[in-house]
Amino acid sequence: MPVRKATVDRSEPSPASGQLPKLRIENLSCRFGDIQALHEINLTVEAGEFVCILGASGCGKSTLFNIVAGLQKATSGNIHIDGANVNEKPGHVGYMLQKDLLLPWRTVLGNITLAAALTRGTRDADKEQARELARKYGLGDFLNHYPHTLSGGMRQRVAMMRTVAAGRPIMLLDEPFGALDAQTRLGMQQWILEIWRDLGVTVLFVTHDVDEAIFLASRIVVMTPRPGRIAEILEVDLPRPRDFDSLTTPTFVELKRRIMRHLYGKDSDHG
Ligand SMILES: Nc1ncnc2c1ncn2[C@@H]1O[C@H](COP(=O)(O)OP(=O)(O)OP(=O)(O)O)[C@@H](O)[C@H]1O
Ligand SMILES: [Mg+2]
Repeated sequence: MPVRKATVDRSEPSPASGQLPKLRIENLSCRFGDIQALHEINLTVEAGEFVCILGASGCGKSTLFNIVAGLQKATSGNIHIDGANVNEKPGHVGYMLQKDLLLPWRTVLGNITLAAALTRGTRDADKEQARELARKYGLGDFLNHYPHTLSGGMRQRVAMMRTVAAGRPIMLLDEPFGALDAQTRLGMQQWILEIWRDLGVTVLFVTHDVDEAIFLASRIVVMTPRPGRIAEILEVDLPRPRDFDSLTTPTFVELKRRIMRHLYGKDSDHG
């Protein structure tokens, strides 16, 4: 009997690798009284992805993050992390809120170790980890400074380090660079890609800046105005490491045009 050669049929979906998606958002809707904030959001994020979320103000991006973080109840739908339902169960993700919310009476070190302080008390190992993170990511000279003595960019770095120090494999970052000037922002974008690459974490990142989204993301989720739905999910097929030349390639320009059409309804030269 002839031996049949095993072949892989590329038209078939690849067999389950046994690995569950890192995060699955399933039929998620959220209503506040008369306001429908989110409508039937479905999104699967694989481990190690960098997903940017773009959408008009008020389309529900922060609401989506609050629900994924377990801080807010959805009207319907489910959140799964590594296959487990985590609806209304906080503590599974690192979350950097839209406002940096550093505690003014704690030093940089005290702010970075906040998660440990709040849960089980800060240990020497937490402080050592915080010092190491701070040194590695450019805050080493500021560990004993108080937030009011830092620039906006430094404050955002501290807030980001606090999120990293919480040690969760998924990080939700809600407009972390929104308040920064353009030049500081460019440095921060390079910096966050370095952290993402070093730590192998899964990142969901809200921004209003289309260039920033394309520069950072593996995929971009474009949302409709309220009620927020997913308008389109775009793959960002730009090689890494990316640099500022990536922002002028035909792939970049075409992606930007598509996103602008969603956000502004026509070709646009905004941004
Ligand atoms: N706790 C709440 N109670 C009532 N309405 C709320 C609540 N939280 C959010 N909303 C409403 O839900 C909608 C979505 O708000 P959300 O803050 O999620 O938008 P967003 O996309 O993050 O906006 P922005 O880009 O301005 O940050 C808004 O209309 C907002 O007023
Ligand atoms: Mg918001």
